[in-house]
Amino acid sequence: MASSSILPSTEVETPITSFSIDVLGESLTIHEQPQNVSSTGTKVWDTGVALSKYFEKNRHKLNLKGKQLIEIGAGCGLTGIVTAILGAHVTITDRVEVLHLIKKNVDFNLSGRENVGKVQVKELNWGVTDVKEFKPPFHYVIGSAQSQIFLDVLYQMESIDPLIQVLASLCDTRTVCLLSLEMRDQQIHDTFFQRVTDHFVVSTIPRAKQDPAHTSEFITIYQLKKK
Ligand SMILES: C[S@@+](CC[C@H](N)C(=O)[O-])C[C@H]1O[C@@H](n2cnc3c(N)ncnc32)[C@H](O)[C@@H]1O
Repeated sequence: MASSSILPSTEVETPITSFSIDVLGESLTIHEQPQNVSSTGTKVWDTGVALSKYFEKNRHKLNLKGKQLIEIGAGCGLTGIVTAILGAHVTITDRVEVLHLIKKNVDFNLSGRENVGKVQVKELNWGVTDVKEFKPPFHYVIGSAQSQIFLDVLYQMESIDPLIQVLASLCDTRTVCLLSLEMRDQQIHDTFFQRVTDHFVVSTIPRAKQDPAHTSEFITIYQLKKK
């Protein structure tokens, strides 16, 4: 777990704002630091909201209770928190820069709440952190991101191979890997899907299974099954 002493000072000095969302009839408050430009993970993205609401809408079929789930590139931690409320044991990961926000949001929304899965918050920097320490495989591996040229670091070309390697290491053939993506850069989109299909069979979750109030025509949830 990160402590504030190892975080760059900008991480704790910019103002905190909050984002609210209802899950199972209760309001969650997710703290953000939108003026902190050290990471794209300091705000909640629509793709994370869409994935969270997909899990809520399909909770009976997916039955997350007791399942081992890891979220990569979690940002403020919304989807990890929602899946823990739905009963999964969740490892929420990102780069060290945003772990303080995730920890704050986990404490704020889950402390004292009953029937919640176990949650841990850990650094997982793709291509740097040794994935073996997470003891894969997981039942679920999840992630969400929007890609806009010059804005998002997630799907820049140099991140693609380390990201795919992390996904391949966290999954086995039974793992359900779900990625909620809004990719606006066609070249990055095409490269990611060309390369990911070396390891995974890719399908899309039918739009009808998403929550129409919390998605858009630009957001697709992809399911990856390891070959
Ligand atoms: C656009 S944000 C999405 C955050 C969150 N999933 C959401 O939908 O609100 C992309 C996230 O990926 C993380 N990320 C980018 N490159 C990464 C890397 N190499 N290793 C780990 N996380 C990374 C960023 O720190 C950021 O939190």
